[in-house]
Amino acid sequence: MSQRPYIVGNWKMNGSRAMLAEARAIDRAAQRYPDVEIALAPPYPFIGALRDAVSAIGVGGQDCHTAAKGAHTGDVSAAMLADIGADFVILGHSERRRDHGEGDALVRAKAEAALAAGLGVIVCVGETLEERDAGKAEAVVARQVEGSVPAGEGAAVAAGRLALAYEPVWAIGTGRVAAVEDVIAMHAAVREKLAAIYGEDADKIRILYGGSVNGENAAGLLGAEGVGGALVGGASLTADAFLPIVAAASQPEG
Ligand code: 13P
Repeated sequence: MSQRPYIVGNWKMNGSRAMLAEARAIDRAAQRYPDVEIALAPPYPFIGALRDAVSAIGVGGQDCHTAAKGAHTGDVSAAMLADIGADFVILGHSERRRDHGEGDALVRAKAEAALAAGLGVIVCVGETLEERDAGKAEAVVARQVEGSVPAGEGAAVAAGRLALAYEPVWAIGTGRVAAVEDVIAMHAAVREKLAAIYGEDADKIRILYGGSVNGENAAGLLGAEGVGGALVGGASLTADAFLPIVAAASQPEG
């Protein structure tokens, strides 16, 4: 991949003010890896404080509403994330699809709203174990990609503000990482689908792998053909666990 690898920590519903110390340690170390784009997505209450605590890494949200403002108690808009200093938002994570019944059309609407608000977007897709065992993994993921990625906002896509994350549901938080050859095959299938949708602009879209990435398996996954980075859950919660993944992504020249 010609683009810088993109290593994103998704803190999910984990975090505290005390954990900002981990973000600071990650940020300090990030300066040693200028060839890697690094970011963290904490829960909403910590986004502003994390933004103020770091300078070398990106900061993002884990969801946003489709509307810019209004009567939606408990929700947060993309414009608000941008206003508080977020750079991007993760959308359509399988945990939101599961916990909140989010479907492809809603994810697409959120992605369009987030890009319009000036944020980068990481759209998540991934099959369940049942779907993989039934031989339907590629078809399921292709359908999710087709339904979830923004239909408008072409200029933002061309500018590289859209990323995809392939996260097989059965590999998330289970310690059961996908086989590298399966990751390569799926990333190629996703790339093909994106090319059919966006043409040459699809070259600008990084495709991340997510699901039990850690310091031990990162080099194999990140070195795989078509893998543009990683979306990391559990191993993003401490600098000690996260930084080896960043190091594995780094290929300084010379
Ligand atoms: P784990 O790295 O904990 O498996 O989580 C992956 C994930 O869902 C990142 O979004």
